[in-house]
Amino acid sequence: MQEQIHKLPKIELHSHLEGTIKPELAKQIAKKNATPLDNNLFDDNEGYAWSDFASFLTAYDSVSSCLKNGEDYRDITYEYLKDCASENVIYAETFISPDHAAECGISYDDMISGIASGIDDAERDFGIVGRIIVTCVRHLGPEQGLNVVQTMVDNPHPYVVGFGMGGDENAFTIEEYTPVYNIAANAGYACTVHAGEICGPDSVWDAINYLPISRIGHGVKSVYDEKLISELINRKIHLEICPGSNLALSLFPNWKSHPLLTIMNKGISISLNSDDPPFFNTTVGKEYQNSAKNFNLNAEDLKQISLMAMEASFADIKTKSRLIEEIKKFQS
Ligand code: ADE
Ligand code: ZN
Repeated sequence: MQEQIHKLPKIELHSHLEGTIKPELAKQIAKKNATPLDNNLFDDNEGYAWSDFASFLTAYDSVSSCLKNGEDYRDITYEYLKDCASENVIYAETFISPDHAAECGISYDDMISGIASGIDDAERDFGIVGRIIVTCVRHLGPEQGLNVVQTMVDNPHPYVVGFGMGGDENAFTIEEYTPVYNIAANAGYACTVHAGEICGPDSVWDAINYLPISRIGHGVKSVYDEKLISELINRKIHLEICPGSNLALSLFPNWKSHPLLTIMNKGISISLNSDDPPFFNTTVGKEYQNSAKNFNLNAEDLKQISLMAMEASFADIKTKSRLIEEIKKFQS
């Protein structure tokens, strides 16, 4: 069954591009740019060193600092999509953060054109389709969020298909981000937001009540509120679930206690995602394999997850229909 799951067409809807950079690649780019990375960034096993959500976010910022130009963005996009394609991921939407690029002196245009080149090169070489979700960083505040969303709307690119927000869920209120999200939604961008990861069900209620979203990043804490689960079903909200990330960040003590199966069995549309693969020692392929093993899911169950994910993707209709057909053709 492992081999069958390996071959299954997979969809990634939730990864952070800057968080996909593997330690070796970060060191290589830092060396090329003559901007040494902080030694404390690495642990003894050549992984990233962090111990909780706050130190994870700091490590994430630190890794991002190796990037210095659009070409670096091309390279990290290409490497990430190449790894995805090797696990038969056929479509990947990745979050990008113009705030992190700006911190490195990279303009929005250079960042987007670098990423678009990486997407084009990866599709040419591996057949994988990549798309971009522009995100703001919650703890940088709504004013900064307005800058990011306005820049996105003023500089449209066919690969930019949505808007989102990551960062510290405890900073500011979701309601303060309503004007930011309205700008994205009014300009026709589909939206998602991180909620119900670090904070509880209330953060998910806020997300669905105050933001024009069709998906939630994580949302796993919704499981503690039956009324909220019903509301997510009524509103057809998709949850981008990242079990490996949740376990690494100690949201749940082990696979057995992870609510993915409970949430899915209630009838909520879900996807399986890597979030920040090298930080959490995961990949989309590992998420599918681990879910099969720990939740007793077979290839047909996982095929249904790929279909739910592609349905919930922000891809244009033509791309969506073509890739749904590709998943349907897979014999489970
Ligand atoms: N940025 C990168 N990864 C994140 C996560 N898991 N939650 C919130 N913000 C993030
Ligand atoms: Zn995330």
